Amino acid sequence: MKRYRLVPCISAEELQERVARLAAQINHDYAGKRIIAIGILKGAFIFLSDLIRKITVPVQVDFVRLASYGFDSQTSGEIRISKDIELSVTNEHVLIVEDIVDTGITLEWFLRHLRKRNPRSIRICALVDKLERRQVEIPLDYTGIQVEKGFLVGYGLDFAENHRNLSGICEVEFLDKDGSD
Ligand code: IMP
Ligand code: MG
Repeated sequence: MKRYRLVPCISAEELQERVARLAAQINHDYAGKRIIAIGILKGAFIFLSDLIRKITVPVQVDFVRLASYGFDSQTSGEIRISKDIELSVTNEHVLIVEDIVDTGITLEWFLRHLRKRNPRSIRICALVDKLERRQVEIPLDYTGIQVEKGFLVGYGLDFAENHRNLSGICEVEFLDKDGSD
């Protein structure tokens, strides 16, 4: 197990401000419409629950769980659905809610999957847009925070399933520079 420490990065208060700003934009853009918000499990569960409580247009909620055969912290590109959505999205306005976009491979795959069900529109709301390792261009309609790089935990985001419970976001700083276990 690599040794690491957590460096505070975005406070709980800052996150709440960002979420409120995103919800205000969404409420404005979807005025007079209804939406289906699809949270990508597990990471988006806290973000989605805060976000939808600030959404004032009619909203239904569903979840999808995607499994990727990745190594370590990098997505491999081979993705499958381990829990599909249960609502019908045909002719509906869909808002995908994601915790963090890194390479973009997961979202690109899910977008392709979702389009086959003929929703009226698809937009993406991502809490964190992490730029450095992006491999595919993904149109992010609503973004809370942009970071260049780093591995983040808290507010739903995990490192080996830990730290999802933190109310702010921290960066994982590895202490063993050679990367040995
Ligand atoms: P992508 O396919 O590379 O964009 O991977 C996106 C997924 O990888 C996210 O939904 C997260 O589950 C996970 N991920 C990427 N970066 C981080 C991070 O910094 N912290 C926690 N999870 C991450
Ligand atoms: Mg995720």
